Amino acid sequence: MNCDVWWAGPGQAIDALLGLLDDRERERHGRFRVQADRDRYVVAHALARLTVARAAGCDPRDVAFTLRCRGCERRPDPRPEPHGKPRPAGTAEGLEISISHSGARVVVALARGVEIGVDVEEVSGSRDIDGLAEYALTDPERADLAALPEADRAAGFFGYWARKEALLKSTGDGLSGGLANVAVNAPTEPAEVTAWNLPDAPEHVWLTDLDAGPAYRAALAALTPGPVAVTSHDGAQLLAL
Ligand SMILES: CC(C)(COP(=O)(O)OP(=O)(O)OC[C@H]1O[C@@H](n2cnc3c(N)ncnc32)[C@H](O)[C@@H]1OP(=O)(O)O)[C@@H](O)C(=O)NCCC(=O)NCCS
Ligand SMILES: [Zn+2]
Repeated sequence: MNCDVWWAGPGQAIDALLGLLDDRERERHGRFRVQADRDRYVVAHALARLTVARAAGCDPRDVAFTLRCRGCERRPDPRPEPHGKPRPAGTAEGLEISISHSGARVVVALARGVEIGVDVEEVSGSRDIDGLAEYALTDPERADLAALPEADRAAGFFGYWARKEALLKSTGDGLSGGLANVAVNAPTEPAEVTAWNLPDAPEHVWLTDLDAGPAYRAALAALTPGPVAVTSHDGAQLLAL
């Protein structure tokens, strides 16, 4: 199968992109207090519509998404408002997408007929890596992380995080699936899932790291035995409208 990965950044936010969003998205966009958050959001959601429209051969204004949070489906008290993994509906039905944004990176992954998850994380040296590792990593992962040279540890941690979150986004669980329930190999090795401790874990999963530049870690997961042919694209031209 094929997967297209479209990259952009918050610097590409222009007013006209807001016109591509639906009412719910515009309302959410208006609630962000920080300009950078607003810009990442509008670029990500406009890019999602533009790439889906391109693949479906329709107008971006005709692209609609349904939202599904698998975590909420398991809970007795699901959040009432629509949220979760976007899935193209209507004319674009059959396509699958995943959205992520962090720092100066926005990414949209797009495939046909196979659920996918993408995640990009800015490597931050100022975060409490040990505390985060306690929450997000399994014991063997923490041991592998501790074996890395000190200078590589923050990037190593965000490598784990991106892989795990890509996996949890492919199923629609999101973080409520539990980062420590899914285990991957050391960040120095080509990405692989080593364990998935949930009763309804997917039978087949394919995982790869993506190159988002030295200050970022990114990963792509697909619920298929694979292989997956990944093509990266620059979203700038699509976003210039
Ligand atoms: C959204 C989540 C997947 C991770 O978010 P993050 O690392 O902050 O953000 P990313 O940029 O990597 O991904 C965000 C995108 O993932 C998508 N997404 C949201 N929930 C998702 C889910 N359950 N599965 C797959 N994708 C999801 C959305 O498109 C979202 O874009 P948006 O925030 O611009 O609307 C999520 O698990 C999370 O952070 N949850 C926090 C708690 C929460 O709000 N839970 C709500 C469910 S009850
Ligand atoms: Zn939910």
